[in-house]
Amino acid sequence: MPTRPVTAVVVGAGNRGSRYAAYALDHPDRLKIVGVADPSDIHRRTLSEAHGIPESRQYKSVEELTAQPAIADAAINGTMDTLHVPTSLPLLEAGYDLLLEKPFSTGESEMWQLVDAARRLDRRIMVCHVLRYAPFYRAIRERLETGEIGEIINIQTNEHVSYHHMAVAFVRGKWRNRAEGGSSMLMAKCCHDLDLIMWMKHGVRPTAVSSFGGQMQFRPEMAPDGAGTHCLVDCPIEADCLYSARKHYLDQPDRWKFYVWRDLEHLDDPTPEQRLELLKNDDRYGRCVWRSDNDVVDHQSVAIEFADGSTATHNLVGGTSRPIRSIHIVGTRGEIQGVFEDSKFVVRQIDPTPGQDYSEELVDLRVTGDMSGSHGSHGGGDLRLVEDFVSFIRGEPRSISCTTIEDSINGHLVGFRADQSMEERRVMDIPESGPPLPTVGRGLR
Ligand SMILES: NC(=O)c1ccc[n+]([C@@H]2O[C@H](COP(=O)([O-])OP(=O)(O)OC[C@H]3O[C@@H](n4cnc5c(N)ncnc54)[C@H](O)[C@@H]3O)[C@@H](O)[C@H]2O)c1
Repeated sequence: MPTRPVTAVVVGAGNRGSRYAAYALDHPDRLKIVGVADPSDIHRRTLSEAHGIPESRQYKSVEELTAQPAIADAAINGTMDTLHVPTSLPLLEAGYDLLLEKPFSTGESEMWQLVDAARRLDRRIMVCHVLRYAPFYRAIRERLETGEIGEIINIQTNEHVSYHHMAVAFVRGKWRNRAEGGSSMLMAKCCHDLDLIMWMKHGVRPTAVSSFGGQMQFRPEMAPDGAGTHCLVDCPIEADCLYSARKHYLDQPDRWKFYVWRDLEHLDDPTPEQRLELLKNDDRYGRCVWRSDNDVVDHQSVAIEFADGSTATHNLVGGTSRPIRSIHIVGTRGEIQGVFEDSKFVVRQIDPTPGQDYSEELVDLRVTGDMSGSHGSHGGGDLRLVEDFVSFIRGEPRSISCTTIEDSINGHLVGFRADQSMEERRVMDIPESGPPLPTVGRGLR
């Protein structure tokens, strides 16, 4: 057992990269951040100050970092979707193992490029499927291991993206169109849910997928009568609008601050006037949600078939009042059903005894304190993931949640082919010639 901490460089020191790196501040015996590569002066400096990184180990690009032999055991890659593969390939070549954000590629051929490089160079890549680490999903996964609900017949998952999250990320924000964000909304938002479905089906291969969806709400034809183009510039109905930039951002300045106020991050504490001015002149967050240049869907449904004949469906719905992720797993002996945000699920079992239909057990994770905020966001998943990454790099036994790039392939394949199915209006096979199946499940810690 090594006694020194695992060392890591952060590539892309934005919102996610710096959040994962923060684990090192609380656990200096396990992780030390020794370098950073980011073209943003502010992000490079902020992360360097937090972790005491000397100037000689601050790099403006991945090329600059990888022009020398690896300076750390691993790299935490928190760049945006389009940069995941282009930045990871040189990192792998230079000798780094990787903690890599999701979706780990923007398409199938890019996906295989990275998988092939990791296999050829024998590097370890863990993909940031943080929800596998949330106590809610982990507890459900562990209940499946007991066999108490029998063999899985069907899995139903739903993700409802709230109206303000939809607007800030997928209508006005970074993932509003494929050209800029690189990913479809399904891949940007629900590659987690597809991954969870694959994880719950542990070891059973997906064989086919079909999908429908589209842009229903956030397009010019749907704009309310009289709507302008920019909420705080030319919109006479702003005061009555559910999507007013004033209501979403000025009245709640902290809610999406790492997206909306990015252009003010050089200021320690922007005033309300500076924020107002930004929104008036900003062609992203200040613009009308019906007149943006978004091309990603606002709702999509996916149906998946597995090699054992079982099925799964996932519904993505954007613009809802309440954000919800829900899951319902139906097995031959019972079922598991719950809502992530409630951190509760029920386990039902068929009970044919006279006077009974089924038994029901409520599992309330809040009662056990498992949803504590001390492990970051995503229901406690973020920092548990980094903890496991450190163990993974140290060569310690993999946890049941650990998602290597090999484990992540089927979920990504289903997502890419679901999008193709939706666009081409046909059922897509999932190729059998894929990689070795994930070995998560029985026998693991
Ligand atoms: N796991 C999750 O649940 C989760 C949640 C949110 C976002 N994400 C993913 O995390 C990734 C990052 O999102 P974010 O919101 O943190 O983005 P961000 O914009 O805050 O951070 C990206 C950083 O990369 C830097 N960068 C740009 N070009 C670079 C280059 N060539 N080399 C190195 N650094 C470069 C930027 O300056 C910025 O600091 C995205 O892929 C997103 O999909 C994952």
